[in-house]
Amino acid sequence: MKTIIESQEGRLGILLPGLGAVATTMITGVLASRKGIGLPIGSYTQTGSIRLGKRTENRNPRIKDFVPLAAMDEIVFGGWDIFEDNAYEAASNAGVIDQQLLDKLQPELSVILPMKAVFDKKFVHNLDGKNVKSAPTKMDLAEALIADMKDFKEKNHCSRLVMVWCASTETYLEVSDVHQSLEAFEDGLRTNHPQIAPSMIYAYAAIKSGVPFANGAPNLSCDFPAMVELAKLTKTPIGGKDFKTGQTLMKTIIAPGLKARNLGVNGWFSTNILGNRDGEVLDDPESFKTKEVSKLGSLDSIFEPELNPDLYRNIYHKIRINYYPPRGDNKESWDNIDIFGWLGYKMQIKINFLCRDSILAAPIVLDLALLLDLAKRAGMSGIQEWLSFFFKSPQAAPGLEPQHDLFRQLMKLENTLRYLQGENLITHLGLDYYEED
Ligand SMILES: NC(=O)c1ccc[n+]([C@@H]2O[C@H](COP(=O)([O-])OP(=O)(O)OC[C@H]3O[C@@H](n4cnc5c(N)ncnc54)[C@H](O)[C@@H]3O)[C@@H](O)[C@H]2O)c1
Repeated sequence: MKTIIESQEGRLGILLPGLGAVATTMITGVLASRKGIGLPIGSYTQTGSIRLGKRTENRNPRIKDFVPLAAMDEIVFGGWDIFEDNAYEAASNAGVIDQQLLDKLQPELSVILPMKAVFDKKFVHNLDGKNVKSAPTKMDLAEALIADMKDFKEKNHCSRLVMVWCASTETYLEVSDVHQSLEAFEDGLRTNHPQIAPSMIYAYAAIKSGVPFANGAPNLSCDFPAMVELAKLTKTPIGGKDFKTGQTLMKTIIAPGLKARNLGVNGWFSTNILGNRDGEVLDDPESFKTKEVSKLGSLDSIFEPELNPDLYRNIYHKIRINYYPPRGDNKESWDNIDIFGWLGYKMQIKINFLCRDSILAAPIVLDLALLLDLAKRAGMSGIQEWLSFFFKSPQAAPGLEPQHDLFRQLMKLENTLRYLQGENLITHLGLDYYEED
């Protein structure tokens, strides 16, 4: 049976805390696609397709034709940043997109002005900016963000909003008492609790307003019980954490293959150089710690050493990120994987990925915004595990281990869309052979 989904008619406002490299690369890509001067490559919703029914039926619609998503022409962008640069200036500074293309889009980009940010240097040591709100309490700051959203929605004639955190990685925080319930958290907002970071204030403001929220960085933001409680209360879909790009994307492609072939692994060393502002922020050990924790989880979850002790019990997994300005946004990563096969004979795999961080992240921001908006219109709320495909450290329901294997994540994503549209789920089990062919 088809799920009832509210219409996608009307404008969708995509609100981005952090108008840096990732956010402006995404905005530029959407504007370029609209004008027919760029292709949204890497976007699941714009270029992906989905198989429906039996293979013999030959039904493979594009995702954007299969589920009712907001059209690219109906998107409006807004955001907050601690710097006053408009999106044209910020994109030029980020140095990801050719200046020639940015110049063609200057009229549209330069009218996107950052609203004043909620910021606290205690949580991002390496940055300083003036475009920042001040208010006596963290609750006042949340209310100011709620007012910003309301204002933006009215001025831009939007029928709906979504928020995707694209701001810098904050210092490492663990879930503590103030995060355990909505009551404790709201009390903490009123009393300026030191364990409430700016990203949590944005998340609270969005979820409180019923605006779907995704977290593209590894900091907690909405990944704690109080936010999940609020999301259920306001019927708001949420998801996080940390866009799955670059080295972790490679890891979650390669590791399931090694596991599928029952090849053992005893070491995985990953190192990176990157020179953008994100790299500068991650140069601070406390921000790096947040990133490191987010990146480390994937291998254990894929290899399941407790089920396969002979193959994966002793994996030495090490991750390094080095700030190296000459490369800008063009990250280079190296992986050395020590594996073993038949009779324990050792082998090695080397991966050298010369990637472009924001080019890989931008389509994920768009996909998350469109799919969270779909989820909201389909009446889905709380943690959207079917969107784990897009995250490095997927947020999972309490008591559940997150799923990291990219292929299982894709199956879950596709089956959720099939379910929403009342199509048969496809499991790719052997049994399908008899039913499908
Ligand atoms: N590029 C990738 O491949 C990738 C992958 C996964 C996660 N991420 C995460 O996405 C985020 C953005 O990455 P980026 O390369 O665009 O970084 P960036 O440094 O270019 O942009 C971040 C922007 O956020 C702003 N900012 C910081 N704190 C803020 C606050 N409290 N409110 C509003 N604005 C604030 C900064 O001024 C900056 O302009 C980072 O947290 C990064 O770790 C990026």
